[in-house]
Amino acid sequence: MSATTVPASPEAIEIAARLLRAGELVAFPTETVYGLGADAMSERSVAAIFSAKGRPRFNPLIVHVPDLAAAEALAEFDARARRIAAQFWPGPLTLVLRRRYHSGLSLLASAGLDTVAIRAPAHPVAQALLRASRRPIAAPSANRSGRVSPTEAAHVAEELVDGVALILDGGPTAVGIESTILDLSGEPPALLRPGAVTLEQLTELLGPIAAPGSGSVKAPGMLPSHYAPSLPVRLAATEARPGEALLAYGADTLPGFSEVLWLSRSGDLAEAAANLFAMLRRLDRPPFTGIAVMPIPEHGLGRAINDRLRRAAANIRVEFNSRRRSP
Ligand code: TXA
Ligand code: MG
Repeated sequence: MSATTVPASPEAIEIAARLLRAGELVAFPTETVYGLGADAMSERSVAAIFSAKGRPRFNPLIVHVPDLAAAEALAEFDARARRIAAQFWPGPLTLVLRRRYHSGLSLLASAGLDTVAIRAPAHPVAQALLRASRRPIAAPSANRSGRVSPTEAAHVAEELVDGVALILDGGPTAVGIESTILDLSGEPPALLRPGAVTLEQLTELLGPIAAPGSGSVKAPGMLPSHYAPSLPVRLAATEARPGEALLAYGADTLPGFSEVLWLSRSGDLAEAAANLFAMLRRLDRPPFTGIAVMPIPEHGLGRAINDRLRRAAANIRVEFNSRRRSP
């Protein structure tokens, strides 16, 4: 049985809030990607997210709140964290901070870590849902574990069949890739996942930041293979190979492909990010046998796009080594 999708009207948001408070799962739009939400205070509801997604339980979730005040009830903010939140919230930035001991948050939401990932999303539907439910909402991206994140309500409906009570349709998401994750639980600050709040912007405010992949810095969910379409993905393509479709970037395309979708003809990284996951989905089908992608510049939002593309292209799944703090 598939979940019901409804336009995110004020009435539908009220119903969704009631469902959340009753322990049900609700998918909703944020400015980055669609999330699969549950009451973050309920262990049983949070457990249902892991089942619905087929997500390994060692991989913690992001807790969504309306604003900084709500976040401070759940996590320990220092001056540095407040400064960053004041600058970028609500918005596409997640902060990893120490959990407050008596926060009441589900332990499963942070997978037994003593930190919690927390974000105030800017999307009006997400904001309205958070305020109507009067609960922090734990929400990973609303896709099957390991697959491409959903940027439209229909993507959620295609992939998540069981256990979802309602999907709120707020149209395609504006940013299109998941939030930047910044770990402020230690020194120096560490970028765990690049996103629309860029490394350049964060460095300007904070000084040096440990980059993803440096040393032991990892988000438990950042497996090398992730965001994976079914077809093989080939990066920095400069020529056509038989059977491949092309994701093009910039004014010039490459000859010899039977199907071409443009991430951005004008070379606009924000436009490319917004198109990335939906276009990967559109090309991930027969008669194609692979998806080639033209080079994307490695700066600003381009870092986040290339990060997701590298994961989409990685076809090995390696044993994951999470950075757990000592008990
Ligand atoms: O844009 C987004 O962030 C979307 C929307 C729905 O908010 N959510 C999202 O959630 O992308 P998810 O679960 O797909 O990705 C969350 C990432 C995972 O890689 C997870 O390992 C990491 O955040 N994470 C969560 N809690 C963490 C923690 N305490 N320490 C380090 N990483 C954490
Ligand atoms: Mg995800």
